[in-house]
Amino acid sequence: MQLDEETLKHIAAQLRKPDGEAGKQTGERMNQGNQVMNLATIAQLHITADDNLLEIGMGNGYFVPQIVGVNATVKYTGLDYSETMVEEACMYNKQHIADGQAQFVLSSVGTMPFEDHLFTKAFTVNTLYFWEDPAQVLAELRRVLKPGGELFITIRPKEVMLSYPFTQYGFTMYTADEVSQLLTNNGFTVSDIVKVDEPDIVIEDETIEKHSLIICAKAL
Ligand SMILES: C[S@@+](CC[C@H](N)C(=O)[O-])C[C@H]1O[C@@H](n2cnc3c(N)ncnc32)[C@H](O)[C@@H]1O
Repeated sequence: MQLDEETLKHIAAQLRKPDGEAGKQTGERMNQGNQVMNLATIAQLHITADDNLLEIGMGNGYFVPQIVGVNATVKYTGLDYSETMVEEACMYNKQHIADGQAQFVLSSVGTMPFEDHLFTKAFTVNTLYFWEDPAQVLAELRRVLKPGGELFITIRPKEVMLSYPFTQYGFTMYTADEVSQLLTNNGFTVSDIVKVDEPDIVIEDETIEKHSLIICAKAL
């Protein structure tokens, strides 16, 4: 089935910043469609008891229980500029907030309301495409990470993203090399790039081989 331009623009806008009822539904769809890459990213974090984790763009926070469930001392902060997603994430994770393990902050990634050197690890899944000034975001991430803190950026690479018809509307797509370059130019050293195989998808009657990449880096 071919989707018209208006529909594709609407999908792209909701993925960039989910809003209202359509945003809530987008959040639910992302939980399913992005499950493999989110769980693979959480596994890659190798969470330890004293971790203080920051996630950029957590959507509705569906995967947070997998993170705070590792140990009662793990702390998690999710930051997202979508009011709808922050509300949903707070609702889904009421108990973890009450326990003092999770918090959700409404903010853009460009300037984050956190003190310096607060977090042991930061990660983000499917948001790099929307960063307007990646150098500024990486400077902020370096500021809020402890020295030597780790950063995990998970994306579907350009060659996969180009298969989705909505990515022509406002997505900046990257190859693995381009993300590595971005990180090394902005105060991080890349330690690993993990390829995650995902189930094939059918878009407009065409079967597309899908995979994502977890780019692992350390703040210098
Ligand atoms: C495509 S969704 C991905 C959600 C989830 N991480 C996943 O993989 O299913 C992108 C999320 O990042 C948030 N986001 C995008 N750009 C952002 C920015 N500049 N600052 C804060 N949040 C941002 C959006 O509001 C949305 O919740």
